[in-house]
Amino acid sequence: MTMNPAEQKSWRDRAAALQNIPPVLKLLWKSGPGAVSGEMISRVLAALVPVATLWVAATIINIVVGKIKNPGEPFPSSIWFWLALEFSLAALGSIFGRLIGYFDGRIADNFSAEVSVRIMQHAATLDLTSFEDPVFYDKLERARVQATDRIAMLNAIGNVVQQFVTLASLAIALFIYNPLLFFFLVICVVPSFLGESHFAFLGYSLAYRLTPLRRELDYLRVLGTSRENAKELKIFGLAPWLRERFSGLTEQLIDENRNMAKRRLGWGTVFAILGSLGYYGAYAYVVVQALQLKISIGYLQFLVGTIGGTSTQIAAIFSTFSSIADQSLFLTDLIEFFAMKPHIHSSENAIPAPRPIREGFDFQNVRFHYPGAERLVLRDLNLRIEPGERIALVGANGQGKTTLVKLITRLYDPTGGRILLDGIDLREYDIDSLQREIGVIFQDFVRFDMPARANIGVGRLEHMDNECRVREAARKSRADEILRKLPGDLEQMLGRRFEGGVDLSGGEWQKFALARAYLRDAQVLILDEPTAALDAVAEFEVFKRFSELSEGRMALLISHRFSTVRMADRIVVLEDGAIREQGTHDQLLSRGGLYAEMFELQAANYR
Ligand SMILES: Nc1ncnc2c1ncn2[C@@H]1O[C@H](COP(=O)(O)OP(=O)(O)OP(=O)(O)O)[C@@H](O)[C@H]1O
Ligand SMILES: [Mg+2]
Repeated sequence: MTMNPAEQKSWRDRAAALQNIPPVLKLLWKSGPGAVSGEMISRVLAALVPVATLWVAATIINIVVGKIKNPGEPFPSSIWFWLALEFSLAALGSIFGRLIGYFDGRIADNFSAEVSVRIMQHAATLDLTSFEDPVFYDKLERARVQATDRIAMLNAIGNVVQQFVTLASLAIALFIYNPLLFFFLVICVVPSFLGESHFAFLGYSLAYRLTPLRRELDYLRVLGTSRENAKELKIFGLAPWLRERFSGLTEQLIDENRNMAKRRLGWGTVFAILGSLGYYGAYAYVVVQALQLKISIGYLQFLVGTIGGTSTQIAAIFSTFSSIADQSLFLTDLIEFFAMKPHIHSSENAIPAPRPIREGFDFQNVRFHYPGAERLVLRDLNLRIEPGERIALVGANGQGKTTLVKLITRLYDPTGGRILLDGIDLREYDIDSLQREIGVIFQDFVRFDMPARANIGVGRLEHMDNECRVREAARKSRADEILRKLPGDLEQMLGRRFEGGVDLSGGEWQKFALARAYLRDAQVLILDEPTAALDAVAEFEVFKRFSELSEGRMALLISHRFSTVRMADRIVVLEDGAIREQGTHDQLLSRGGLYAEMFELQAANYR
């Protein structure tokens, strides 16, 4: 087997991957020390059964042969003791086997629960940037799968411990008889181990390389079968096109896997034959010894069993071990995922957000581009937002309105310049405390497939069970009208995912999302096109209530509808990542600039 330099380097990676095992073992232990201890004790005891059984069987044969050689001797009644002992060993073996199965099951449950919870916990701490990065997604996906797939590895670790104890007991017996025999066996099994682990590594790098492909397959599968897309797929007749794409990718996957399996088949056979050679060499040696009457029949039986057992155990250990090494390579993703640190976090001596806010926000020469993109989305943006102000942010698609909201809420930090709140850089504030003061409904707000109460309650979890507050928030956002139509009222399951769920229209979902913002009771309210799906009457109502609510607070409204925008105290027109003009509706109209132009265009449609 020749190795190119890349493969050679990969051997080092493979060894390095074993470093992943200790942290995982720690995780395993934490997920349930009781089950782990139980498993280990059962395994060690089970491991001693084979050598004991061989010993007892050899003794029985020697007793029988002794009686055959000397038929005149009395019946050897000690045979009953040995037979009973052999039976007890068999019974113990099966009891331990079952115990191991029982503990394995418990460990698997504990571990996957523990890892899943930790992944969720950790994902929640990471930056939004990470989630918008496809490489991160691959990593997260692989880490997620590991929670369940790596259970085979945990079994393998248990197995290897058991195999080691069995091997040690057999090896001691063999060693006592003839150390050379033992070494002969080991040397024959080594090539097979190297081969196994080599292919394990190739398998891993293949799986690694194919992750994007598998993600695309998953995506196509979901795309082709989900309810949300059914409408469009049908009308455009996309099903055959999707299917073809899917089949094409699947073929590629199958091809790669087949090539690998073929190579494995060839080399695997060669190594297996080498292993057998060792076993039969040792076997022949012992048989010859017996024929030369150097050892008894019982001893022959014992040695043959021991040689067989040793060679099986060595091969098993090597292959279990290489499967552990193989699996531990996959753990790299899990460990790397856990090692990822958010860039945006509260600083050491972060201060709580001010309450009440006295001076408001001040954007000073703020520049921003998304990570991995060159183009500046915001360029030297200067903007003040004072308490009590209602600001409307307008601009064509892609001018950076939503981006500005992401900066205020610290989902991202500016690439240049700074944003002050009450004269202090946003980065000095504790993030949680800052975000608690901001109620924001994004364009792509979440529709929770959960009861109506939860859809409002997520705005402020501690008020979820406060009937009064939840209803008040629903009233303000006009979600109360929808609640009246729902048979289950606040406990009505929404969305189609779960049984008994009721789906809502886009505008109705939006009213629930608005209710969240009202429930939050924050000092800053940001609505990113909150009314896009609302009808004209609803929109008017929402804004009337919005202006009542936002009295004395700050509100930022992003909208493409000038009928609502004009109600704001100040209108800010964003173009090319900078402020083009600002002022009240009337001021901007009389200026005759971009705003007036856009307004006229829209107004003309209504005449
Ligand atoms: N996660 C992202 N990664 C890279 N670029 C992005 C990302 N989100 C937005 N952009 C880019 O930043 C620019 C501004 O986007 P933004 O969402 O702020 O626009 P917007 O003013 O809210 O537009 P719209 O009116 O359509 O909502 C766009 O050109 C967009 O392509
Ligand atoms: Mg937007």
